[in-house]
Amino acid sequence: MKNSVKSKAGPGILFIGLALLLAAPTGAIADDGAIARGGRLYDKWFGENKAEKPTGNHLAYPADGKYKDDATWRCKECHGWDYLGKDGAYSSGKHATGIVGISAAAGGDAAAIAAMLRAAPHGYTEKQLSAKDVEDLALFVTQGQIDVKPYIDASGKPIGDGARGANYYNTLCIGCHGVDGAKIKEAPLGSVAGNTPEMLHKVLNGQPGEAMPALRALDHQIAADIVVHLQTFPK
Ligand code: HEC
Ligand code: HEC
Repeated sequence: MKNSVKSKAGPGILFIGLALLLAAPTGAIADDGAIARGGRLYDKWFGENKAEKPTGNHLAYPADGKYKDDATWRCKECHGWDYLGKDGAYSSGKHATGIVGISAAAGGDAAAIAAMLRAAPHGYTEKQLSAKDVEDLALFVTQGQIDVKPYIDASGKPIGDGARGANYYNTLCIGCHGVDGAKIKEAPLGSVAGNTPEMLHKVLNGQPGEAMPALRALDHQIAADIVVHLQTFPK
């Protein structure tokens, strides 16, 4: 009797085991913590790693560019919040530099990107970006870039469900930013909400040097839904 039960359960268990095996992700799980840190370094590395603020313009920054000093050393200043450089939001306006985006490097070789950041035209020193910093940046560039197009409409507005976004905001963000986004007085969210790619970048990766969460391990549509809700805040 025992044996016959066993022989019946045997193939069943085997089947469940096989199903689990097939359902398991085939690739390794992405290191979202390191990728998000790379994203914060991309935003403002000296805000994240507390390295000394660079002085003078970065050599690759165009002479007729509108920004100066430490601002010109931020990856985002040359390559954009949408990672598209001259082909994206920074194609015109005061942030325009004519410099390429980094989207072509997505899916590429992280070690090659890391080496590139030390060489011309980048030339970041070890005092500015440690080996770990460069590694995290390279991870972000190769594995962490999102295609912003599904989340931004033709007029630059975020695409998502604002009611759902409010529900996330009121549980994840409200403690620090307040119900109307204005609790941190120096940084009312309503005043920056209009820059959709910047908002997506910060919600997915966090704020450099701050204890703000990075939501990239969740479905990215959640970040977009939150960004829709941010549009309702007073400017
Ligand atoms: C002052 C402007 C400037 C800053 C700041 C800057 N870059 Fe660049 N970056 C460039 C230029 C110019 C190129 C194109 C180099 C070439 O084509 O030889 C480039 C190329 C790249 C590329 C290759 C893009 C491609 O597809 O060929 C990547 C990736 C990249 N940069 C990442 C970064 C990261 C990460 C940072 C911040 C740590 C950064 N860059 C900061 C100017 C800048
Ligand atoms: C633990 C506290 C904390 C939490 C939770 C938090 N933030 Fe923040 N956030 C901050 C701090 C601190 C800053 C930096 C403010 C400054 O620049 O003075 C910031 C900055 C920002 C900025 C950039 C503002 C600017 O002016 O550039 C955005 C956008 C933002 N947060 C959105 C969010 C969203 C959306 C959530 C929820 C998913 C969230 N934050 C959760 C602490 C938090």
